[in-house]
Amino acid sequence: MAIIASNFKTNHTRKSTASFVNEVNEFLKSNDISNEVIVFPTATSFDEFETVSNLTIGAQNAYAAEKGSYTGEIGTVQLDEFGIKTILIGHSERRHVLGESQDEIAKKYDFYMSKGYKIIYCIGEPLEVKESGLDKTLEYVYEQFEGIDTNYENLILAYEPVWAIGTGVTATNDDITNVHSAIKSRIPKPLLYGGSVKVANVREICALDGVDGALIGTASWIIEDFKQIIENTKDL
Ligand code: 13P
Repeated sequence: MAIIASNFKTNHTRKSTASFVNEVNEFLKSNDISNEVIVFPTATSFDEFETVSNLTIGAQNAYAAEKGSYTGEIGTVQLDEFGIKTILIGHSERRHVLGESQDEIAKKYDFYMSKGYKIIYCIGEPLEVKESGLDKTLEYVYEQFEGIDTNYENLILAYEPVWAIGTGVTATNDDITNVHSAIKSRIPKPLLYGGSVKVANVREICALDGVDGALIGTASWIIEDFKQIIENTKDL
């Protein structure tokens, strides 16, 4: 059973998110699809969505606090209001665009682990590291596990090479299986691939050894494409 996750990033409004979530929900229900589907909308679009048990709404980010003086952030008090118990941590855009350090990421991870959240923890190397070979890539990726308790039972990993995110350049099947098998031999957790996954390649990628699903940005924002992505992986 593939895990299919949509990361909205800074896309969609309250209105379009509500219609997206309802449509995915109806699609899963009426086609009796058992994929685990997770949608990460913007925090402004959280709502009390009624969903089937295999559709979950998660947070793209939140601060490592219940509440407090952290201007611009949200904590678990705000997530609780919508019953959100799933969070993305360590996404490359948080690391490289928003400047989150490994130390901050590890603190956030500890906090959400202590609260029992399902954590989708992202790792992945930039282009210059990829170009220096598989050993360097793995070294870089393993450093992103510093301070992270990978024995946590409610953990899903997502390998998202930075050079493949939003670029249209998907990692090759060999790139994916090499990195996935290495990570899995150290950390036996569900492992998603992310980086330019789309309707046309999602099935092939999710069928690879060591790939348990996909974390998708761009191609998941169009409802018809996202439904097709789910359809294409429903029997894996
Ligand atoms: P794209 O699917 O747009 O490459 O983004 C991947 C991603 O960052 C998902 O978290």
